[in-house]
Amino acid sequence: MSAARRPRRAEAVVQAPSQALIPGFEHRSVLLADTLAQLAPRPGGRYLDGTLGGGGHAELILENSGPDGILVGIDRDPAALRAAGERLARFGDRARLLRGRFSEMAELAAAHGPFDGVLLDIGTSSPQLDHADRGFSFMHDGPLDMRMDPSTGESAAELIDRLTEEALADVIYRYGEEPRSRRIAKAIVAGRPWTRTGALAACVAEGSGWKASRTHPATRTFQALRIAVNNELDELERALPAAVSLLAPGGRLAVISFHSLEDRIVKGFLRTAAEIGTARDAYGAPLSAPALRLCTRRAIDGAEADPTNPRSRSARLRVAERLPTA
Ligand SMILES: C[S@@+](CC[C@H](N)C(=O)[O-])C[C@H]1O[C@@H](n2cnc3c(N)ncnc32)[C@H](O)[C@@H]1O
Repeated sequence: MSAARRPRRAEAVVQAPSQALIPGFEHRSVLLADTLAQLAPRPGGRYLDGTLGGGGHAELILENSGPDGILVGIDRDPAALRAAGERLARFGDRARLLRGRFSEMAELAAAHGPFDGVLLDIGTSSPQLDHADRGFSFMHDGPLDMRMDPSTGESAAELIDRLTEEALADVIYRYGEEPRSRRIAKAIVAGRPWTRTGALAACVAEGSGWKASRTHPATRTFQALRIAVNNELDELERALPAAVSLLAPGGRLAVISFHSLEDRIVKGFLRTAAEIGTARDAYGAPLSAPALRLCTRRAIDGAEADPTNPRSRSARLRVAERLPTA
């Protein structure tokens, strides 16, 4: 095949890989085929997964970078690290798992790089949402916790106790994009303290003046509390430049996000990093070289690309490649 007709890496056709779910940590990885096509793992390559979860993406990267590719996996959730550790044990020291926050990836992983690919599949894993004892779910009653790393920081119950009504309404509005934030915050504050997810969900449903609809009335409020408890948007803003700093020239950053607040941050960061080289000073000299080339002008839409996976419905994948000059 001539070079002109050979599919480029981003266009390579990859069969949707299917994966077995791990008993006790049932998480169905999203956009597996597209992520793999974009990162195109190769033998001897070095890859960093900043959101290891159950190791679904990591396993495929390791399989496709054998016999000697390396994957460094980071997660702040000890349960995820345990599950991924079991799943990836067969790869021996090709899989290096680290506990920590992805905002700290430069400090945690620099010694293993530079990397040919960095993946962030942000948000929560299914076990975090489905296991009542993690306290994320309005569907299953449990302690009101919501910490991805239960060993540190403030739980959702403590956060609600600490905030004023106005500050709580701001959190619910900003991170949940909930138009009824003020009346929900008022109802929550009136009923404090809260210790169980089920009781809080019922309070939100009543306080919001909910009329039957497809989504549960506590969906946005629980999303907002989870984002605040785990400092999720700040984590993402700090992780993106750290990820670029760890990429080898030609290495790719792939980010999967699950709601518009995250996707806006990712899109803005990648665009700026790709366009900054076009900025000129008053004398026409480039202010700085672009760090990235966008590989996906439009996000890859999970509902279109991975329609059989319900978790992919709101997923969006954006990818950029580090330029040699950066
Ligand atoms: C959607 S899951 C990843 C699933 C994984 N790609 C797979 O296929 O199994 C997201 C994971 O990222 C972790 N996570 C979220 N925010 C994090 C952060 N700031 N630092 C480290 N891990 C984080 C969560 O604990 C969760 O395990």
